[in-house]
Amino acid sequence: MTSETRPGPAPESNPDTDPDTPMEAEFDTVAAWTEGAVRVLGRDHAIPAACRGSGSPADLAWLAQGLDVRGDQRFLDAGAGLGGPAAWLADDRGDAWHGRPVLTEPMVHAAASARRLFGFPTAAAVSEALPLPTDGVDAAWSLGVLCVTPSRADMLGELRRVLVTGGRLGLLVLVHGGAPLPEQPEGNDFPTHAELHDQLARTGFRVDDEVEADRLPGAPPSWTERADRVEEHLRRHHGDHPAWRQAQEQEQVMGRLLRERHVVTTLLRTTAV
Ligand SMILES: C[S@@+](CC[C@H](N)C(=O)[O-])C[C@H]1O[C@@H](n2cnc3c(N)ncnc32)[C@H](O)[C@@H]1O
Repeated sequence: MTSETRPGPAPESNPDTDPDTPMEAEFDTVAAWTEGAVRVLGRDHAIPAACRGSGSPADLAWLAQGLDVRGDQRFLDAGAGLGGPAAWLADDRGDAWHGRPVLTEPMVHAAASARRLFGFPTAAAVSEALPLPTDGVDAAWSLGVLCVTPSRADMLGELRRVLVTGGRLGLLVLVHGGAPLPEQPEGNDFPTHAELHDQLARTGFRVDDEVEADRLPGAPPSWTERADRVEEHLRRHHGDHPAWRQAQEQEQVMGRLLRERHVVTTLLRTTAV
């Protein structure tokens, strides 16, 4: 089911209901609290705070180079979270690109917060059923999303439907290293490298380029300082909440898997063929 989010008041409001799953805790409840933190700490905190999973601006720059959005091209961020990456892209490509990103994100509080933070058209929707016409966008990216669901092939098929032939798709995917995982973060489903490439080929995407995010520079101090201030604000105001603890545990598991290279953050530039 999809529904368009509307800009609303209550920027400090929190989702009232307790999250049912660690994914909801991390991607909906904490995401919505983050909007409140940005209101307190200042606009310059919005983009680093709202890049949830996409990490470094160097990752975004590498992907943006492949997308090369320009003129009035139509761009989709699928599974946009709080919308930070799309806002980064709009800033980065501002001289060459006059289009506005369209965002889709299934967690309704996160989608509403993204809409209020950046003002981009945002729909609450899963990527397996995008509320967009066939051939509706010229370029897209989906960051940290293909690894949170087993329905990757459906997502990729849907992204292929909405992209024009020749359109570019940027992906950030946490790829399974192959050995059994020592621990499993709830809700995630990491493809192996072979599975991902096979699914991309089957759904009509050619991989043009690929890099491990570890090979690119980390975020600069000015970025991490702002992200850290937001994190500290959230801890101070919500640290006792079960959703915060659930999200923290989930993040810690992910951190260990990444450090030990059980999963590898992989960036791909692809073309719809
Ligand atoms: C790691 S976060 C990344 C968010 C954002 N792309 C970013 O990089 O900041 C993963 C996002 O995927 C969203 N998600 C989960 N299941 C999804 C689905 N079936 N379709 C689209 N997005 C989904 C989550 O709600 C969450 O916002």
